[in-house]
Amino acid sequence: MSAQNASSSLVLQAKGLSHRFPGGVAAVNGVDLEIREGEVVGLVGESGSGKTTLGKLLLHIIPPDTGRVAFEGQDLAELSPRERRRTRSRMQMIYQTAAASLNPGLTVGQHLEETVRLHRPEDAHRADALVDETLTAFRLNGKRALHPSQLSGGEQRRVVVARSLLPRPSLLVADEPTAGLDASVKADVIDLLRNARGGRTAFLFISHELDVVRYVADRVLVMYRGRIVECMPAAALDPRDTEVDHHPYTERLLSAAFKATRRVESPMIRPTEDLFKAGCSYRAACHRTEPDDPSWSRCSQHTPDLIPLRAGHRVSCHVVAPSPTEAS
Ligand SMILES: Nc1ncnc2c1ncn2[C@@H]1O[C@H](COP(=O)(O)OP(=O)(O)OP(=O)(O)O)[C@@H](O)[C@H]1O
Ligand code: SF4
Ligand SMILES: [Mg+2]
Repeated sequence: MSAQNASSSLVLQAKGLSHRFPGGVAAVNGVDLEIREGEVVGLVGESGSGKTTLGKLLLHIIPPDTGRVAFEGQDLAELSPRERRRTRSRMQMIYQTAAASLNPGLTVGQHLEETVRLHRPEDAHRADALVDETLTAFRLNGKRALHPSQLSGGEQRRVVVARSLLPRPSLLVADEPTAGLDASVKADVIDLLRNARGGRTAFLFISHELDVVRYVADRVLVMYRGRIVECMPAAALDPRDTEVDHHPYTERLLSAAFKATRRVESPMIRPTEDLFKAGCSYRAACHRTEPDDPSWSRCSQHTPDLIPLRAGHRVSCHVVAPSPTEAS
């Protein structure tokens, strides 16, 4: 989707991010992540795996319990309130509940005018023209005076996307930006996102739709119970390519999404002790190991690291990607 390459500058660098909600298990558990200028990083995983929480930790909408986030080289935890406000303009989020993030009392025009005032004060003198340009670019002409309740779902989503791109962010966390949209509106929203800042805006693109992620992203992360279990070039998320090894959980996601071309038989879910104490958190459902297998003791005692399988592709699994010491 983007012109990003390995020499592009780092927009975001996160190390060891973890967060536990009160009374719950760790929603995000030890995540490292780097995103480069213009790069589109897809994030997939089942419901409750921690995708939204990770997106919010990256922007410090939720402060992490442990770990650090550097945005354009600056540690977010060390910014003054004034610097934080300025930085916020360059880091935007499209919330999963996009329509609910619109204010029912404001018109479409007022939403966009407010965004210019807050995030582009240097352009306040031409806010009116800028809003008109934005309405045209997002095919919302004639909607300026309408309130959110007077818009279709697709139009509401376009307003949310327009509002998030108007500050010309360096990084946009887009949480399910195309969920529930029909095919033509979905294609529209994807197009608007991919043209953001001439391809220079970096994205964390969160979605359940593997085909959309494969099309949109440069690189895909797979999240399971708060951890990144696989990181691969988007092209590797191909259901027809049975030569490419994946984490057993990714296999299951691919099998569920593309039933006609892949089939993974899953064992009955096995009872387990607290999965976050030790061992691989996927072992209760894993089809690549059994309690009688030699690999089982490793799977149940040691959390696997993300190990390179090939260029740009890392997997956290003792069987699929044994660490050099296991393999020898
Ligand atoms: N405000 C909260 N208070 C307590 N627990 C929360 C809160 N928000 C999320 N969680 C829990 O944290 C875990 C991760 O939630 P999160 O919303 O990040 O998952 P997700 O991958 O985005 O799911 P979905 O695909 O359904 O959007 C879940 O177990 C969820 O119940
Ligand atoms: S480490 Fe073991 S339990 Fe975990 S995914 Fe790999 S084979 Fe399955
Ligand atoms: Mg979510």
